[in-house]
Amino acid sequence: MKQANFRYAPVLPFRANPITMGRHIHLIKQLFNNNMTRRLLIAGNWKMNLTLSASLELADGLKQAASSVADVDIAVCPPSIYVQPVAASLKGSNIGVGAQNIYFEKEGAFTGEISAAMLKDVGCQYVILGHSERRNILGESSELVNLKTHAALVAGLTPIVCVGELLKEREAGTTEQVVRRQFDGSFSGISAEDMKKCVIAYEPVWAIGTGKVATPDQAEEVHAAIRKMIEKNYNKEVADVVRIQYGGSVNDKNAKEILAKPNVDGALVGGASLKVELFMGIVRPV
Ligand code: PGA
Repeated sequence: MKQANFRYAPVLPFRANPITMGRHIHLIKQLFNNNMTRRLLIAGNWKMNLTLSASLELADGLKQAASSVADVDIAVCPPSIYVQPVAASLKGSNIGVGAQNIYFEKEGAFTGEISAAMLKDVGCQYVILGHSERRNILGESSELVNLKTHAALVAGLTPIVCVGELLKEREAGTTEQVVRRQFDGSFSGISAEDMKKCVIAYEPVWAIGTGKVATPDQAEEVHAAIRKMIEKNYNKEVADVVRIQYGGSVNDKNAKEILAKPNVDGALVGGASLKVELFMGIVRPV
């Protein structure tokens, strides 16, 4: 867990309120982080949007706008058909590319599916797994997400595994149980070394695409609980390095406060990732 690193206290009089430091929030957070290893990861989930030319235009705009960003990891996750051209256009830049789904088998008669190795082959680095739209619209279970998480790791992709409760589950006070069930199911059988390579995205379903963002405190509460789950299933060393992103109506206005929370290590962004200025406003919140 992140705690103030008092070694820096004499030269950081603003340490009590990193938010006031505006643009330097990412650096300050790293200074505050005991282990100093959790870089923020801001990832754009383009979902089923854009055309090929619009994807390339967005990728190009981001490449230019983000060229000087050195302290934050950035990724975009286009629809699978655009992963290859977007990865080619972002090659050599500081923006990684992710997919939104994979199938868990290596190859074979699985009509319509794409393997982790195929995505890796065309320059993909990340894959979003178990997004609530796949869990709720396409009926993906945590067992399936688990098979995909294993497959992603075998192929060398970084899984971004999504967890999050429905509105009725939050209202019933079962948020932590729901997230714990998804966490245990999705990461079953994942070794400690592999767990360190995974990213978790906490996305309350009621906040996705609704404009209804969780408050920074609501996000922090669940993020801290997830970090405890990692510590319980693995150990503190693993818990300290796994990045936990928040997702659900993150935009350039609310990002700064959410990202300032000690257990929030980035954002998974839907709607606001489709415009250069909005996405950059989350990478560099002012
Ligand atoms: P949103 O989507 O930012 O549009 O709410 C987030 C997500 O689904 O990953």
